Amino acid sequence: MLKNLWEKIDEKKAKIAIIGAGYVGLPLAIAFIDEGFRVFIIDINKDKISKILAGESYIEDVAPEQLKDAVEKGLLTPTTDYCVLKDADVAIITVPTPVTRYREPNLSYIKEAANGIAQHLHSPMLVSLESTTYPGTTEELLLPLFQSKGLEVGKDFFLVFSPERINPGDKEHPLKKITKIVGGITSNCTEIGCHLYEQIIEQVVPVSNARTAEMVKLFENAYRYINIAFANEMAIVCRKLGIDIWEVIEGAKTKPFGFQVFYPGPGVGGHCIPVDPHYLRWRLREVGHNELLLEIADTINMGMPHYIVDLAADILNEAGKPLNDSKILILGVTYKKDISDIRESPALRLIEQLMEKKAIVYYHDPYKPELAPTDFPSSKNSNISLKSIPLNEETLRQMDLVILATDHSCFNYQWIADNCQLILDTKNAFKNVNNSDAKIIKL
Ligand SMILES: NC(=O)c1ccc[n+]([C@@H]2O[C@H](COP(=O)([O-])OP(=O)(O)OC[C@H]3O[C@@H](n4cnc5c(N)ncnc54)[C@H](O)[C@@H]3O)[C@@H](O)[C@H]2O)c1
Repeated sequence: MLKNLWEKIDEKKAKIAIIGAGYVGLPLAIAFIDEGFRVFIIDINKDKISKILAGESYIEDVAPEQLKDAVEKGLLTPTTDYCVLKDADVAIITVPTPVTRYREPNLSYIKEAANGIAQHLHSPMLVSLESTTYPGTTEELLLPLFQSKGLEVGKDFFLVFSPERINPGDKEHPLKKITKIVGGITSNCTEIGCHLYEQIIEQVVPVSNARTAEMVKLFENAYRYINIAFANEMAIVCRKLGIDIWEVIEGAKTKPFGFQVFYPGPGVGGHCIPVDPHYLRWRLREVGHNELLLEIADTINMGMPHYIVDLAADILNEAGKPLNDSKILILGVTYKKDISDIRESPALRLIEQLMEKKAIVYYHDPYKPELAPTDFPSSKNSNISLKSIPLNEETLRQMDLVILATDHSCFNYQWIADNCQLILDTKNAFKNVNNSDAKIIKL
């Protein structure tokens, strides 16, 4: 069975089914298609399926022409129907793994996807879970479900965890250049899993088992979360000491070893960095370990929007204005630059908290024309609904304060600074601005 599937993959005859057509799933589908594979992409969101069929891309890293071409040539079949799995040799799960409102793992999407696969599991079939999750998920959740279908793992079907590590919008690190980690339930599973990913990725690294692969991903993202918290705390400390944190970081960066750069900001956003540590914390609590470092990091990072609001109040106060009734423009609301993803974006918390203090808040973001009440973290109690306002001289001049929350590359920082009075720059994005009329205060 292993040999059959191996050869099918070698000859690019293996049919790949990807479950979840999002930031991870859609670029992955294109990567397999580019290497000559046929791909089914399954999503419960009918709107996304219709868009793919129409060649409309909703992910920055996938060009509409790529989708159109793939659909027209019959290489990409978008569908909401799990029945296509009957014809698939490989199923890759790329569904969301958010946290509940109590910040605990929400595995409902993985469970739904796994149930869908279980109904069509056949021999030989390779299943890879790519969604980020706590160590043990593949072995404890997926394996028993698949085994209950009477098939033997490592012989009839193969099961691996292979964390997705893409960085949406990052042109320097395309998918094929990001080393892939693969950990299988058995050694056969790991081998065939590596063989699959070697078709699309330059370097594939096997690890001992699925748990280790799951932990690799959480370790990476927890490391990032903790180091960002350190940068954030140092930004607060440096302000108190009258030192420019950005200059300190530039200095520290010159060390050729033992230092990796992380930057402060208005908080931490995205579907991964602020979310994944909670998967780890939940698992650690289960084994009776009190994870102090992650808890402190969370307190610092989640407190950053509040810190920025306090800073805004101080800056306005200096200018003789109260926060109440001041016109504030938030520049950039997505969780990072040059993409449209607003999940967990700290800018949203910033807007909410400024509004709570009765500031009049506007925003401008070319990547996000509208913000609906459900986009906001406390959407249950909120009726905030905003439209991105045009960025022109008149708008800028009317603002009491401009807060740069997301440093999109398309912003003309010199022009912005030339046309407003007061700027709070949480990203050091205005560093190259010269002789502007605006007073620029950096985080
Ligand atoms: N976005 C990133 O930068 C990134 C990077 C690395 C890893 N990850 C991880 O990858 C996983 C997916 O993240 P994403 O950003 O692509 O999420 P996403 O929300 O962009 O995409 C997930 C898709 O899955 C679909 N879906 C949900 N339940 C489904 C089901 N039962 N059957 C079929 N489709 C279903 C959703 O409709 C959605 O289109 C998460 O675990 C995330 O932590 C994300």
